Amino acid sequence: SMLRTLARRTSTAGTCRGFASESAPDRKVAILGAAGGIGQPLSLLMKLNPLVSRLALYDIAGTPGVAADVSHINTRSEILGYAGEEQLGNALEGADVVIIPAGVPRKPGMTRDDLFNINAGIVKSLCTAIAKYCPHALVNVISNPVNSTVPIASEVFKKAGTYDEKRLFGVTTLDVVRAKTFYAGKAKVNVADVIVPVVGGHAGVTILPLFSQATPSANLSSEEIEALTKRTQDGGTEVVEAKAGKGSATLSMAYAGAIFADACLKGLNGVPDVVECSFVQSTVTDLPFFASKVRLGKNGVEEVLGLGALSDYEKEGLEALKPELKSSIEKGIKFAHA
Ligand code: NAI
Repeated sequence: SMLRTLARRTSTAGTCRGFASESAPDRKVAILGAAGGIGQPLSLLMKLNPLVSRLALYDIAGTPGVAADVSHINTRSEILGYAGEEQLGNALEGADVVIIPAGVPRKPGMTRDDLFNINAGIVKSLCTAIAKYCPHALVNVISNPVNSTVPIASEVFKKAGTYDEKRLFGVTTLDVVRAKTFYAGKAKVNVADVIVPVVGGHAGVTILPLFSQATPSANLSSEEIEALTKRTQDGGTEVVEAKAGKGSATLSMAYAGAIFADACLKGLNGVPDVVECSFVQSTVTDLPFFASKVRLGKNGVEEVLGLGALSDYEKEGLEALKPELKSSIEKGIKFAHA
């Protein structure tokens, strides 16, 4: 077998592709909303991920062009483009991970909750199809308001009889990405070394970065911590205002979405100690959904990790975010039942 391995390596010499597909299992990833502002760069980044063997790009329109374009990149995955609702089933069939950046983004002056009326219905219909065509997939919900769309997804799956709380994730990675960047700038440490948990939810004050747990540690003043916290909470709005009506974060969101999907794939493949923050079903607080550190494994969520020690400022932030997060969760559940 040693000889056979050598022969095979020789025969594929010069192409990474043969080697990568031998070492990583087949994994299909589907992106719903792939032709959008987030969807396009996310499609690019997932095409670069060697853990993906098939990448299905779905949108209501525009996916043939995106798929043709991305398919010319000489990496492992096969690209499949699907446009229109009648092709959604084929896009989803056999998917291990489904990423959902479908829906409308914010314009200046809007909160994430202002998107509810349009995006809630989109997430509900996409999750109905997921329950039918790939009920075991890990679902990464990006569409806002995440604090409500994740509860909507859970109710749709419950109704279909396919709900597994270990397989449903609200993507809050962009909050972590922002917290790391802003902290590194203030603390004057190497950004690549920074770790900061961000807990709670994904809107305004429900976003709670735990800078008291940030590493490498730095002696920041309470004013500096407060400013960093506010900037992380308002990071999305900073981009919405800078884009002045042309949408919200797309490039940094695509990066964050790719990081989180990669963590899900690593978990599925049995890589140990894969931990990312995510908005999941939770018993960490008295709220049914909450973002915190999550250990990912072969079945999705392996363990929802606790909050750890909080500073007084973070304890106050935690109590302050609960009413808004609670009502956003309830709004989602109510919508799903209506
Ligand atoms: P966009 O408008 O550029 O793209 C959205 C795409 O979704 C469009 O291509 C549209 O055709 C597609 N779409 C609409 N209905 C669909 C359906 N039923 N099935 C499939 N595709 C459908 O918007 P963008 O900037 O890509 O944002 C997408 C969502 O992501 C928004 O809800 C936004 O608020 C959210 N977002 C979430 C973040 C997070 O941290 N979780 C950060 C930034 C944005």
